[in-house]
Amino acid sequence: MPHTSPDVSDPAYVRARAMVTLFERLEHLCEGAIAIDRGGRVIYVNEKYLASLGLKHTSEAIGRPIEEVIPNSMMRKVVETGEPILLDIMELGGEQLVVTRMPIEDERRNVIGAIGFVLYDRLESLKPLLARVAQLESDLRLARRQLSNARAARFTFADFVGRTPGITQAKELAGRAARQNVTVLLTGETGTGKEMLAQAIHNASSRAEKPFVSVNVAAIPDTLIESEFFGTAPGAYTGADRKGREGKFRIADGGTLFLDEIGEMPLQLQAKLLRVLQEREIEPLGSDKISKVDLRVVAATNVDLRKRVSDGTFRPDLYYRLNVLSIDLPPLRDCLDDLPDISARLLEDISASGDHVSAKITPSALTVLARYDWPGNVRELRNVLERALILSDSGRLSGDDFARILPVGTDARPASTARAAGFVLPYAEAEAEFEKQTLEQALAASNGQISEAAKLLQISRATFYKKLAKFGLASGPASV
Ligand SMILES: Nc1ncnc2c1ncn2[C@@H]1O[C@H](COP(=O)(O)OP(=O)(O)OP(=O)(O)O)[C@@H](O)[C@H]1O
Ligand SMILES: [Mg+2]
Repeated sequence: MPHTSPDVSDPAYVRARAMVTLFERLEHLCEGAIAIDRGGRVIYVNEKYLASLGLKHTSEAIGRPIEEVIPNSMMRKVVETGEPILLDIMELGGEQLVVTRMPIEDERRNVIGAIGFVLYDRLESLKPLLARVAQLESDLRLARRQLSNARAARFTFADFVGRTPGITQAKELAGRAARQNVTVLLTGETGTGKEMLAQAIHNASSRAEKPFVSVNVAAIPDTLIESEFFGTAPGAYTGADRKGREGKFRIADGGTLFLDEIGEMPLQLQAKLLRVLQEREIEPLGSDKISKVDLRVVAATNVDLRKRVSDGTFRPDLYYRLNVLSIDLPPLRDCLDDLPDISARLLEDISASGDHVSAKITPSALTVLARYDWPGNVRELRNVLERALILSDSGRLSGDDFARILPVGTDARPASTARAAGFVLPYAEAEAEFEKQTLEQALAASNGQISEAAKLLQISRATFYKKLAKFGLASGPASV
């Protein structure tokens, strides 16, 4: 009987052959193939795949749940959703494989299983693509880490060094505050550890796993301050804020909101903050939806809030609300007996964060340090130690090392001494000195009130703050 050859131009025939060819070709070309039934059990695995799976014989895989063979397999998901995963990168035994997965359907299109192919295990040709994936993944990890660092508090009570009565009492009160949910007000000169203690309170509280969000009230321009705190509703604004933005209250939900320089808060916002503290609810700008927030507020200030109240720049009701538990941090000059311990801790810290040798401080150095009155408190001590360490060759810091860098008494300014001796200062230094003096004068004239001082100089509060930070100046009347 003559053999009738199939009609190769018959679409039905080509289609039928396509299905067979496709499977056979794929199976032949690919580096491995595996199939599961509706229950997720392996029904087929080809010989080529065995080595990658760490198996000797197909019978070791057949009948087992797919996850026992490929722990992070997505095959079961394909069966459950009925959707193919056409291209994916799968990790197996430390190697990255390019895979494709497809559902298997019966005549009535019911999913009865899934089949997966490993397209490549030698990824040479896909290197650029994979390098890009790896890069994106590492960027993502970094961004996540930065985000969680920004929202995390680093310090604990153990970092807060000192045994003199002032510090002991502050720590004792802070420990008490940590165990409850009360609003806390931290007062004290610049550099006395207010932010550090705020973090320690958060970390010792039941909110430790939740965000710690720190906001410097003085650093936010007046026009933005409300949206920073309350957020904006989607569609309320054009431009960057069109999609809406979460405010700090929302971001800190569940955790602690640290309000630094609370004394600089504009009056209008003070009223709104008071409402949040009382009602525990917020309303984003441009929205009519009120939502609950659950947060603890820790506020800090280095100005005398009572004085602000009598000036009329701080609301008395907010002051009383914040002042439920207030903790005053003593200036360093009042805890000179703690100098050895605090210096030792700061030196350890400085050595660990830089590439300095581990340093020791001699008794003669401590005598010199105790004579200075530390207007910048522990922050200034840290800077002085760091400078001494950079200038010293041995890592043994003596009295002489500090005598060189400490101003003799608070009034002595190296720049003016230089001028008296007939020196001409380099322009940049003279300019900086002039700028610093101008800031100090404005602060003195406004009795330490930033808004007032900024107004006198006709610059914004935020600019004023940046300049203060640049010169290491404080904002409290105590330090001008
Ligand atoms: N008792 C302490 N023990 C160890 N380190 C301290 C102590 N107090 C302050 N420090 C360190 O001093 C530096 C300044 O502290 P912090 O930033 O908390 O001060 P602050 O009171 O918030 O100052 P400001 O009012 O200027 O913002 C930080 O590096 C902090 O770690
Ligand atoms: Mg601070």
